[in-house]
Amino acid sequence: MKWKISGASPWRTKADALLVPVVYAGGKARPAAGPDGPIAARMVEATLKRHDWAGESAGPVCVPTWGQLPAAHLILARIDGAGGSPGFRFERAVATAARLGRSLKLRSLVVGVPDAFDGGNAGAVRRIVRGASAGAERFDVFTSAPAGAGAPDLTIAGVRPTAALRRAAGDAAREAEILRDVRRLANLPGREATPEAIARECRRMARRHGFSCRVHDRAALERMGCRALLAVGQGSRNEPRMIVLEYRNGGRAKPVALVGKTITFDSGGISLKPGKGMEWMRYDKSGGMAVLATVATAAALRLPINVTGILAAAENMPGGGATRPGDIVRARNGTTIEIQNTDAEGRLVLADALSVAADLKPSAIVDLATLTGAVIVALGHHAAAVLGTDEALGARLREAGEAAGERLWPLPLWPEYEQQIRSDFADLRNIGDGSAGTIIGGAFLKRFVPGGVPWAHIDIAGTAWDEKPSAHRGAGATLVGARLLIEWLGRGAPTG
Ligand code: BES
Ligand code: MN
Ligand code: ZN
Repeated sequence: MKWKISGASPWRTKADALLVPVVYAGGKARPAAGPDGPIAARMVEATLKRHDWAGESAGPVCVPTWGQLPAAHLILARIDGAGGSPGFRFERAVATAARLGRSLKLRSLVVGVPDAFDGGNAGAVRRIVRGASAGAERFDVFTSAPAGAGAPDLTIAGVRPTAALRRAAGDAAREAEILRDVRRLANLPGREATPEAIARECRRMARRHGFSCRVHDRAALERMGCRALLAVGQGSRNEPRMIVLEYRNGGRAKPVALVGKTITFDSGGISLKPGKGMEWMRYDKSGGMAVLATVATAAALRLPINVTGILAAAENMPGGGATRPGDIVRARNGTTIEIQNTDAEGRLVLADALSVAADLKPSAIVDLATLTGAVIVALGHHAAAVLGTDEALGARLREAGEAAGERLWPLPLWPEYEQQIRSDFADLRNIGDGSAGTIIGGAFLKRFVPGGVPWAHIDIAGTAWDEKPSAHRGAGATLVGARLLIEWLGRGAPTG
């Protein structure tokens, strides 16, 4: 995305559109910052009056300025009161304006830096670049109509363009480009986004952004003893892969390990899912997509950390070679698993990936997975569940999530739940009795993380995919977890 920073007032800057953030409180709407001059003030006043700013998704609106202002249009977008930090809510308003601007074919957007922004001017610049880029995104891989203009030419106005602010904008633009590229991959159907295709894209991003990528194919996985991952993939012609992404810029610090469930399509296997809505299950690779975006961003921004990402990639299909319910496999760490339900496959691929992660002696392990439908019952589409073995880690992740606009909410992992996954025929079985589904998933994973390693499991099944477009983004993959983990890593946590 093209951007520039300008010391001029946003109200005196030429562009196709000027964003006017709107604050709605106590039944009244007002511009977040005072319009510059009487004409601007009257235009904003009149537009605010004509529209209803109450309700969950009020606005945005676009009005022409008919040559009365340097900007050809004003886009009024409400700063939504709900969800996430004030900084994030501002970013979402920028995204909303960019999305409307794009649909109206407005090519350039000017946004003023708010005063007293939390995170300072650099924080505001980052929010503006990220919002403008994400809001203008459109998934057009398969659409026949011409794609049209992409992200707008952005002017960040009302602030002196210091080197530090330019760096903030450049970093945010790099981050936004990565999120866009990975979101494109995450939106691809199972036919295109096979485990090998994802491995190929990981290699390409590794070269481009400066990290390493190792891909373990089926033969390597057999040598490594990853029979839980192999069991999930054996019903598909598209063989499983374990993809290991390594970025090192933190000296001798232990690495952080990020593990992502990367099921390229989840049919359920022999425990076949119902047909209705099954197309949604191309999103079952979302955990791995967030991990890829996070490692690539850490590398692109040269964060002073060590991080390893592990993507456990397989396609869960009911082919002739598929795992049968009742089959027993030995996972890489030696634990035997009775696979009572082949649709509880995420925990199987993660089992082997977690044991590979543990071998790195990491300072912490965080896994992301679209693991259970039950998390949607518990939290709906407004938060991901976080579980694990380390209170402090969970708290830090929750704080990062607030800042990133990706909320987490905790669930317990008490030992009582572990009863449910006992098997009469193996060390473990892969399902419980149907109660506490999200916790049972976590309790299963815990068996593959050695005690003493801080570990958090984030179940993103309710938040990784938007069924419908909204004012600030299109339908499809949200990459939930990526911004959260980037925020968390950027805060320098954890060290050790
Ligand atoms: N990928 C699904 C999780 C899922 C299910 C997300 C439905 C969204 C909607 C996962 O692999 C799965 O199938 N989980 C099962 C587990 C059960 C068999 C213990 C589920 O949640 O139904
Ligand atoms: Mn499943
Ligand atoms: Zn799944």
